[in-house]
Amino acid sequence: MKLERAATLDAWADLVTGLLVQRLQRTPTLRMCLPTGLTPVPIYDRLSAAVARRDASLEHATIFLLDEFGGVAPSDPGRCDNMLRRGLLDRLAVPPAQFHRFDLTGDVLQECAAYEAAVGDGCDITLLGIGSNGHIGMNEPGSSPDSATRRVSLAAATVTASARYFNREHDLPTWGVTMGVGTILRSREIWLLATGPGKAAIVGQTLRGAITPDVPASLLRSHGNTILFTDEAAAALA
Ligand code: GLP
Repeated sequence: MKLERAATLDAWADLVTGLLVQRLQRTPTLRMCLPTGLTPVPIYDRLSAAVARRDASLEHATIFLLDEFGGVAPSDPGRCDNMLRRGLLDRLAVPPAQFHRFDLTGDVLQECAAYEAAVGDGCDITLLGIGSNGHIGMNEPGSSPDSATRRVSLAAATVTASARYFNREHDLPTWGVTMGVGTILRSREIWLLATGPGKAAIVGQTLRGAITPDVPASLLRSHGNTILFTDEAAAALA
């Protein structure tokens, strides 16, 4: 896993967005897996601006949403699909058919199998945030390196941390669906994103600790083309 550290949050977002714009210019049909959470917000802001300037286009790209919370209303602003729409897709011309997300109104097992099949031999590029327990997507500690897209239970700390997306402390989702670690590892490129002092400990563990399902992000070290992008604060223990 290669480490790219930027001096500031702005420099970090400029660096990642610049590289993503390059990828889109080179491959307009780029198949991307995108995360939600707060970490990628400055990247999505810059990408939207780059598209507005016509430096890049997502018109021919395909987007796979990384994960989704279960048991929440379709209109809930904390849902991952709504967060990605708000933060990026509503501001760009991405045809709805090119945005893959999870429909959890029917058979969840079937939906996960269909998602896994749609991802096929993997995305061109997968962007990921990291949870403070090392989760990637909703692959919590204990996730197997060959896990597929599936229904998962959320760790208690992940449920608590999700309050910042839902703007409430109660009735938070306790389960979700996520691309598996195996699904992610099929991606040609993986970019792990971490910013702020709160991520310093898990960044250190991901880079220097054992490669183990107990720290799902560490499993990315077995992939030959993974970059961990941090700002200085998140790299303090790297
Ligand atoms: C959440 C999401 C992840 C996200 C991570 C970090 O639980 N399921 O996809 O990357 O936690 O979130 P944030 O970027 O808000 O710190």
